[in-house]
Amino acid sequence: MQYERLVKWASEIWEERCPDREYVAIWASAECSNKIAQNQIKVGRKLRGKARYQGYELLDCDVVVPISDYGSRGKSTVLMSSAGAYTFHFSVEDEEPFEVIYVSSYFDDDVQDLTAIALLPEDKLDTWAAFEFACARAVRPRIRRRRDVYIIGGTDAFFDPTVEWSDVILPSDLKEELLEDMEAFFTKGVDIYRQLKLAPFRKLLLAGVPGTGKTMLCAAMAKLAIEQKRIVVYVSGSDRDGASFEKIQRALQAVTAAHYPVLLIVEELDAYLHDDDKARVLNVLDGVESPNNPQGALLLATTNYPEVIDERIAKRPGRLDRIFVIPTIQDDHHAEQMLRHYMADQWKEEHLDVVSQLVGQPGAFVRESALHARMLAAHSHSTEVTLELLQQSIDSLLRQIRSSGDFMSQRRPIGLNTASKKSNSRSPLMPRR
Ligand SMILES: Nc1ncnc2c1ncn2[C@@H]1O[C@H](COP(=O)(O)OP(=O)(O)O)[C@@H](O)[C@H]1O
Ligand SMILES: [Mg+2]
Repeated sequence: MQYERLVKWASEIWEERCPDREYVAIWASAECSNKIAQNQIKVGRKLRGKARYQGYELLDCDVVVPISDYGSRGKSTVLMSSAGAYTFHFSVEDEEPFEVIYVSSYFDDDVQDLTAIALLPEDKLDTWAAFEFACARAVRPRIRRRRDVYIIGGTDAFFDPTVEWSDVILPSDLKEELLEDMEAFFTKGVDIYRQLKLAPFRKLLLAGVPGTGKTMLCAAMAKLAIEQKRIVVYVSGSDRDGASFEKIQRALQAVTAAHYPVLLIVEELDAYLHDDDKARVLNVLDGVESPNNPQGALLLATTNYPEVIDERIAKRPGRLDRIFVIPTIQDDHHAEQMLRHYMADQWKEEHLDVVSQLVGQPGAFVRESALHARMLAAHSHSTEVTLELLQQSIDSLLRQIRSSGDFMSQRRPIGLNTASKKSNSRSPLMPRR
């Protein structure tokens, strides 16, 4: 057995280093040879009673090779464990210092596993246990075991809450109001609801034509919520199960069970407002079926078709607490900001010429134009995006939208707005006549 070889080797070292001290051989924790623990636990660290850790030495061992195992946690590569032979030093006030001979090694019998043994004076088992505990804590810090984001309908690819708040380009007062609404609800509102013996559930709707940044805004709000230790529940109707009320129900269960404040995002709320589901959605909004999370739940719903959210929802007090209209580009200033953002390092002052053509378009239009222009430049092996290329790109995008006009005006278009001027000039919340 490998451990017998380890103990045998360690006992020879023990005899060399501490010939007149008795020892016991124990199975030890594999974390003590982990580099993370060794770097993190500083010399002088107080352990149990009057004992302190006094550092380590790497031992030259012919039965184990110091080797590390790396794994992935999320997107990053982390050291999982490392094998090696060490002596760990400890001091105890008013007593002789002592050391522990420690060897860890990967076993390859059936599963690859790191096993470790240690030799130490029998009366020091307590101190050693405290040291092992400190190593384990260093290697596996108290990671928040709870998940931050629950995605209902689809996979993580549907929703990525890593968007920076500053990357969402919208009138700043609109962004501020939205953020203030969320913060005021969680910091003050929840208590007020509770005092009134109401389930703390606030409901906001982001309404606007496709491509104005509603999804992006939700992702940025989610990022901020997670930073505040809130949980995000995201419901998508765009997977093959579509917009079924069953998803809303599952989301509400997650909200109720969360034990944390929750930001509940329901994209394209309008899609759930059909047939029998409509009555049930209204029940949720009315509070009949709404979630009771004592820490508070904020619903952030979006719609591209505010006219579907008819007066039965929009005008009835309490169904939706607030509707934020997410506009297309309002003015030259806003257009310039968006264009600079998406041209990034390719931005040139001459691009200002096209800015006024972007007013009335959604953000997605600007992004597409900028990307397309950069592609055109790349195709002609040019390193710069000239004004001509940018103009060419805008023109071709507009042509494309116009020619697919019929398609775009159908119920479920894909992101760009053909009739932005029109929908801009009237309130998107006006019911369709
Ligand atoms: N206000 C905006 N600020 C920055 N980028 C935007 C904005 N609106 C749209 N975009 C760009 O267009 C893409 C599509 O927008 P999206 O958030 O999906 O719009 P919506 O959900 O309103 O249809 C975004 O991922 C982003 O790249
Ligand atoms: Mg969207």
